Amino acid sequence: MNKTKPRQVIFDTDPGVDDAMALYFALAHPGIDVVGITTTFGNVTVEQAALNALYLCEIAGKHIPVTRGVARPWRKPAESPPTHIHGADGLGNLAQRVSVKQALDPRSSAQFIVDMARAQPGELTLVAVGPLGNLSLALKLEPKLPQLLWEVILMGGTILEPGNVSPVAEANIWNDPHAADPVFTAGWKLTMVGLDVTHRVILPVSLFKKIAHHHHQHLATDTLHEAVSFYADFYSGLYPHVAEIHGCFGHDVLAFIYLVNPELLTTELGCIRVATEGLAQGQTMMNRKALASYPQAGWEQDKPLTQVCMTVNAPACLTLIEETLMAPWLT
Ligand code: BDR
Ligand code: CA
Repeated sequence: MNKTKPRQVIFDTDPGVDDAMALYFALAHPGIDVVGITTTFGNVTVEQAALNALYLCEIAGKHIPVTRGVARPWRKPAESPPTHIHGADGLGNLAQRVSVKQALDPRSSAQFIVDMARAQPGELTLVAVGPLGNLSLALKLEPKLPQLLWEVILMGGTILEPGNVSPVAEANIWNDPHAADPVFTAGWKLTMVGLDVTHRVILPVSLFKKIAHHHHQHLATDTLHEAVSFYADFYSGLYPHVAEIHGCFGHDVLAFIYLVNPELLTTELGCIRVATEGLAQGQTMMNRKALASYPQAGWEQDKPLTQVCMTVNAPACLTLIEETLMAPWLT
């Protein structure tokens, strides 16, 4: 990474508590310049996702364009948002909210991505941490998008780790498998940050309490602490080893960690396809023998490859998150 010039990023997101954590990590990190936030349905409706993105920016004192994107999956029926994980409002059922001054950018998320990529060809990184409908639609609007973006890093999928919505499927991919498969075969420089690594990084609520205290109860870090406390109750109820530290998985923040410190993760290169129907719906299937040629259609040698994160240095990630969010990034 060029240490002197921050990486310009469009953040595609469904906030979501871990999305909020990821956004604040990105806003706080000197190597990342968030130039737009494109929202999608997923953890909440797209309307709520857009409101949450505006809200998180407002209370952090940041003015970044926010767009509303796709409201439902490409083909399958929409699921109800997982209110038991992220709260009915997506931010852990916040006790109260201040009013927001900034309005939405009137463009759709897909159009915003295309406009930005055309305006700065080869410059922008897209970090996507929700279902992939906005990216899939942007590819339809501009088939040359893979050449117009520098790279795409997505949080989603799993290879060896069990899924979190079925034995084989991760939530972001499962939420819109028909949108995800074209993203994996589009031909951009693509990195997948999935459950193989996100389930290895457990973040204690005490870390967010410490960060909130450090910033003297700033509304942004207080809100993050409140949201993470709710979200950690869910994960702590599910996994005894997470409950031991009253913690949670950071999921989406790992996509930004890969962006700024890729050496904290190891990757494997292979073709990824998504199961779109049936019991395996949402599974990210990887040809781990990148050189083997299989006779079945869909696994041809010329299919684009994805870098898949397989291992992670969890203690180093915790240190990086703490140092980044403790820096003086709030006004
Ligand atoms: C992913 O699903 C969402 O609930 C999280 O925000 C994350 O993007 C984890 O499977
Ligand atoms: Ca997310």
